[in-house]
Amino acid sequence: MHPIFVNKSDGAAVPILFVNTANFAEATKILDKREHDYVKAAGFEPKPGRHLVVASADGKLAGVLFGIEANDEPVKDPFRPGQLVTLLPTGTYRFANAPHDARLAALAFALGAYQFSRYRKAEPRNVRLVVPDGVDGDDLTRIAEGVTLARDLINTPSNDMGPDELEAAARALAEQHGAGFDVTRGNALAKEFPLIHAVGMGSPRSPRLIDITWGKDSDPKITLVGKGVCFDTGGLDIKNDTGMLNMKKDMGGAATALGLAHMIMARKLKVRLRVLIPAVENSISGTSFRPRDIYTSRKGITVEIGNTDAEGRLVLADALALADAENPALIADFATLTGAARVALGPELPAMFTDDDALAAELSAAGAAENDPLWRMPLWQPYAGLLDSKVADTNNVSTGGQGGAITAALFLRKFVAAKSWLHLDIFAWNATAKPGRPEGAELQTARALYSMLTKRYSA
Ligand code: BES
Ligand code: MN
Ligand code: ZN
Repeated sequence: MHPIFVNKSDGAAVPILFVNTANFAEATKILDKREHDYVKAAGFEPKPGRHLVVASADGKLAGVLFGIEANDEPVKDPFRPGQLVTLLPTGTYRFANAPHDARLAALAFALGAYQFSRYRKAEPRNVRLVVPDGVDGDDLTRIAEGVTLARDLINTPSNDMGPDELEAAARALAEQHGAGFDVTRGNALAKEFPLIHAVGMGSPRSPRLIDITWGKDSDPKITLVGKGVCFDTGGLDIKNDTGMLNMKKDMGGAATALGLAHMIMARKLKVRLRVLIPAVENSISGTSFRPRDIYTSRKGITVEIGNTDAEGRLVLADALALADAENPALIADFATLTGAARVALGPELPAMFTDDDALAAELSAAGAAENDPLWRMPLWQPYAGLLDSKVADTNNVSTGGQGGAITAALFLRKFVAAKSWLHLDIFAWNATAKPGRPEGAELQTARALYSMLTKRYSA
């Protein structure tokens, strides 16, 4: 179990009372007259996000009031109760009544407790929560472990998270779950995955393709592909300072694939899982790939480099071609691929691209239910011509640059034939802290996919 969860109440847990104007009298019934007087004297109003810790006459904690929306009001954030994990004194708590979604509220406690403590001591915090009735604490634990894994990988700066370290993290996960593990690098990489090699060859930290396989060959094949650009300087088409600042997170897609893989393997879903991670550093040196270079991709499509900063789609292209060769039931790729997706949808709403309408509907519903939202954008075929090159089969960037998230997705589609292919253009970062979402690295879209896959492939 996740360290924040305790299994059954021994009766000593402090009750958290979820209150609003409609349920206030009923929800606070367990407080005595004195405690009610205190709530009044403190001027507590049962508005969403307000909280009050109430002491009992013997100096113990009688309960905690936490304001949520009334039943007839739209719920702004199902994670809001997770705010309490950073506010409450040390102790064990339980939900005295149900918030809107007890499962998501409990999950928000676990996710909100995360701290990145690799380089300095964590703030001492010791809030624990009794797993609410009817909620599967083991499953929340698997999910929170996947989120923690991804956040730690993304938050770790590039000097300690290069291709070697990303490979080590993938290997550790494979070993933990008894999965197969294979890495292609060096001459073999240059020959078999020319685009991955081209992007990574400017760095002394050598490029590679990581390949994890797990599960029974006879089960449905699910393949996750994650962009593992351990730092993105832009290459010779160098980024400016603000553009480069957060590019340690450009392996966020890889971290997402690994976090999701952990959930799938820990849950032992009936799938044959494969995780492909092109791990590279997009660096600047005498051996960097250049604008106007032309490379023959793994699939045989020749690619003219219009911009070395559009490196993510290049490394994904070769990995997707490999994924596609065994015709899986589903290929999902995750990538911090374009600034344009952020311009279109902002930081909190990852863009989803797929030609499979049923899959889009299924995943959108799962995302909404899990508070892990995503939004479909079109693979708008009329824009495909924007990628034309005068000297090769395709350019890696479009002319004009408008609709950049769409043209990036259209570039990727050239390398996949599978019907169920899903491309997720993510941000992998919380610019500001929100309940259950501490500032910094974030795992986006993986909980939605896990929920969808669990419904499909539970044992
Ligand atoms: N990793 C970046 C995209 C990115 C930037 C994602 C900031 C999230 C936040 C990607 O490799 C990139 O540089 N894309 C370029 C593409 C352009 C050169 C066509 C972009 O979006 O500007
Ligand atoms: Mn780039
Ligand atoms: Zn990038």
